[in-house]
Amino acid sequence: MPKPKVFATHELFEPARQILNATCDVEYWGQSDRPPREEVLRRVKDKEGLICLLTEKINEELLRSASKLRIVANVAVGFDNIELPACTKRGVVATNTPGVLDETTADFAWTLMMAVARRLGEGEALARSGNWKNWNLDQLVGADVWGKTLGIVGFGRIGRAMARRAAGFRMKVIYNDAQRPPESVEKELNAEYREFDALLAESDFVSIHVPLLSETRGLFDAPKFFRMKPTAFLINTARGPVVDEAALVHALEAKKIAGAALDVYENEPFIHPGLKRPNVVLAPHIASASLETRSKMASMAAENIVALFKGQRPPNMLNPEVLKS
Ligand code: DGY
Repeated sequence: MPKPKVFATHELFEPARQILNATCDVEYWGQSDRPPREEVLRRVKDKEGLICLLTEKINEELLRSASKLRIVANVAVGFDNIELPACTKRGVVATNTPGVLDETTADFAWTLMMAVARRLGEGEALARSGNWKNWNLDQLVGADVWGKTLGIVGFGRIGRAMARRAAGFRMKVIYNDAQRPPESVEKELNAEYREFDALLAESDFVSIHVPLLSETRGLFDAPKFFRMKPTAFLINTARGPVVDEAALVHALEAKKIAGAALDVYENEPFIHPGLKRPNVVLAPHIASASLETRSKMASMAAENIVALFKGQRPPNMLNPEVLKS
């Protein structure tokens, strides 16, 4: 029996390759740059499986040119790059990588929060520049994190991992989510629910952890920034389009908020020039980028692919209705 043909748009890590290679005939994209769209369309033509990153758009156009495709395994928990209804319509299973990146992503959101509050970017630039003259009492004074109020927007796995970290910093935790968790979760995490506007008005740090959906696109628009404290900071490790970047730039210019720390952007890899200011910490979408976590994500995607070709249900199906029974 010939092995099912799979295209992986990245080389993946060794454990993932081993999982895949045992069952599938895999063609890997071996270059460090992302594959051009035409290349993905060309290579997927004769494949039954596709392992992709969030940089690949899985839409009608791609599915049309991949008539043998049975599964798309995204190496990411967010799947706004996949047109799910189009996959479902064609009977293509779509999977993601939930759970394995929660703590690593929360670590990084915390890193960003600390960095922007304590002006690490500016401090690092000064220390490296050779222009640091002396210690001074008011040099690069920032804002305390400990004891402040952390507002978590989106109280899923990653939002809750943020809340757990806040306990060590003796912070007050408030959250907003379309779905309220059971009271036991609030108790365990010492977190209080707030209406969205109330959360914005009360928080010293607002950290975004919602997925990109039609309801969350542009959630942070100009009026929202006007509700925040002028001393507050915005942290975004979720998805760029949740924030209206032009409105954020305006809020920063008008000093409606104190600063921002961003890992994600509206049109990656483009970064709005107005965000390149001292009170904004910028990172290139690396919140889940620890070697351990990225390797687990790749292995999880490989396991999803292999499960389908072994006649099992892939563990992380986004459209389970495709495999009835
Ligand atoms: C995801 O998984 O959705 C992240 O953005 C990348 O880890």
